[in-house]
Amino acid sequence: DWTTASIVEEQVELIRKQIGSGRVICALSGGVDSAVAAALVQRAVGDQLTCVFVDHGLLRSGERSQVEQDLVAATGVRLVTVDAKDRFLDALAGVTDPEQKRKIIGREFIRVFEQAARDLQAEAGEHGTSVDFLVQGTLYPDVVESGGGTGTANIKSHHNVGGLPDDLQFELVEPLRALFKDEVRRVGLELGLPETIVQRQPFPGPGLGIRIIGEVTAERLETLRAADAIVREELTSAGLDREIWQCPVVLLADVRSVGVQGDGRTYGHPIVLRPVSSEDAMTADWMRMPYEVLERISTRVTNEVPEVNRVTLDVTSKPPGTIEWE
Ligand code: XMP
Repeated sequence: DWTTASIVEEQVELIRKQIGSGRVICALSGGVDSAVAAALVQRAVGDQLTCVFVDHGLLRSGERSQVEQDLVAATGVRLVTVDAKDRFLDALAGVTDPEQKRKIIGREFIRVFEQAARDLQAEAGEHGTSVDFLVQGTLYPDVVESGGGTGTANIKSHHNVGGLPDDLQFELVEPLRALFKDEVRRVGLELGLPETIVQRQPFPGPGLGIRIIGEVTAERLETLRAADAIVREELTSAGLDREIWQCPVVLLADVRSVGVQGDGRTYGHPIVLRPVSSEDAMTADWMRMPYEVLERISTRVTNEVPEVNRVTLDVTSKPPGTIEWE
């Protein structure tokens, strides 16, 4: 539509002015915001942009290929993927405290990204240039929630690429700073990004790491990833993607309950479904999901994911509950 097209045009112009002939780097998280921000910058300055995708192993099923295949095919961005799964798992071993998990994931992310940025700097240096700009998919609600700037305490320490060392300082490019999520999605569509990326639910930077209540391990991640994939499949086939803001699936990894599956007694883990409706994630209402959809999810998850023997529903609004459990 007209407004979206003019937002794109205006931002492309501003980005060109800001970056000039400089080089720019962008960390892709797999989420809508960084994908749309990258697509805008790509539209503005083409191959002056390099995207870095850190696979921290905390992604949902299929997300890596959405970035590596779909996003690249739609935009032509230059992409470097870093596989850092083991590094993140090692760093998270034994950790159960939510804020500590966030800090560790944020710290490791910065370290991995830093290394990728140094490699790019070295490569740029060989061509007599340097990388001076960093794209961030900061939205208007992020700006508000973090007090409009730097140094203000966050409600939860948000995962972004702040805190880089002095010799790796970049000027920020934040083309989504004035936009709400729905506007970002429209901009993404306008730029030709596929629905799978544009309509995807918001997903936190620390990923499945903060949806496992308890220690994060490879096995637990596998369990949660399987349950989450089923939930997303069922929500999509019920046509609920647009109605739902997001539906975190949370694995209560330290809780066990007795069940009976087939002929046998089980002692498995519960998952929690957390479907919410929201305009901007600052407040949210628990979603009144059709019972038939809940039933299909419950049946499929308990049949198909052996470690899970109970499916529960979170009926708390925000406030008082946050959307994520950690
Ligand atoms: P809460 O749990 O605070 O979440 O109600 C509000 C929105 O923010 C997302 N979220 C995050 N996004 N890094 C992100 O990029 C994070 O650390 C993070 N924590 C929460 C959450 O999914 C919801 O959309």
